Amino acid sequence: MWDGISDRLVQAEKIVFVTGAGISQESGIPTFRGKDGLWRRYDPMKLATIDAFYEDPKLVWEWYEERRQNILNASPNPGHVTIAELEKYRQVSVLTQNIDGLHQRAGSKNVYELHGSIITIKCTVCDFKDKVTTGFSTLPPLCKCGNILRPDVVWFGEALPQDVWESAMVKASSCDIMIVVGTSLAVSPANLLPVYAKQNGAAIIEVNIEKTQMSSEMDLYIRESASKALPELVEIVSSKKIG
Ligand code: APR
Repeated sequence: MWDGISDRLVQAEKIVFVTGAGISQESGIPTFRGKDGLWRRYDPMKLATIDAFYEDPKLVWEWYEERRQNILNASPNPGHVTIAELEKYRQVSVLTQNIDGLHQRAGSKNVYELHGSIITIKCTVCDFKDKVTTGFSTLPPLCKCGNILRPDVVWFGEALPQDVWESAMVKASSCDIMIVVGTSLAVSPANLLPVYAKQNGAAIIEVNIEKTQMSSEMDLYIRESASKALPELVEIVSSKKIG
């Protein structure tokens, strides 16, 4: 699968992964735009915007709490585990659009959550923010200050966390190889990251079960699922230690 790029993979010192919902699909977490995608069943404008939240916080919270429980019961798959293992051999950074925390649970240390985390909860008013892995008895949950809590995720129309986005741009612009896994590249600004990598001379590779709007720009497009395509990387990269 990786033959066309294995030399560059062996020589690469800095490998950046850009991941989306597709890498968690084999962990039982639905994607957004695939055939069983969430946005086929739900209207994102009614569930994933700040206006929707303030219009009906209970409805939005019921949807996020259902997703939280599914995610908390999910496990990383061989795709996540491979990316974590590659940190033994190369400088690996993970720029993920996913909010499920599965990269970190697989052992990845350098994870940049571009769209926040469904595990972290924050207050809509005060500066309370904490990881919460238990369920809430009442929805919407209230902060000690009396105001409503919300998931620490980036909703449509909201800005990405500035520090995370700036780090992601630096990583994308200074890597030797970027591997884009399981994302439709439909949402900006995350879909600019492969452009930055290519502009700075990196090889860009796509692993996806379907073509995307950027497949034709890739140096290599692997039409395979993440958990089947990624494990081969360990054998290729570990064949030569660098640094
Ligand atoms: N292996 C690899 N790719 C897969 C797999 C798999 N097992 N299953 C699905 N895919 C691919 C699909 O072909 C699709 O291209 O993963 C991609 C998932 O695309 P989306 O559902 O659009 O998810 P994503 O790209 O992460 O969405 C970006 O949109 O709604 C917002 O905030 C949300 O972070 C999300 C952002």
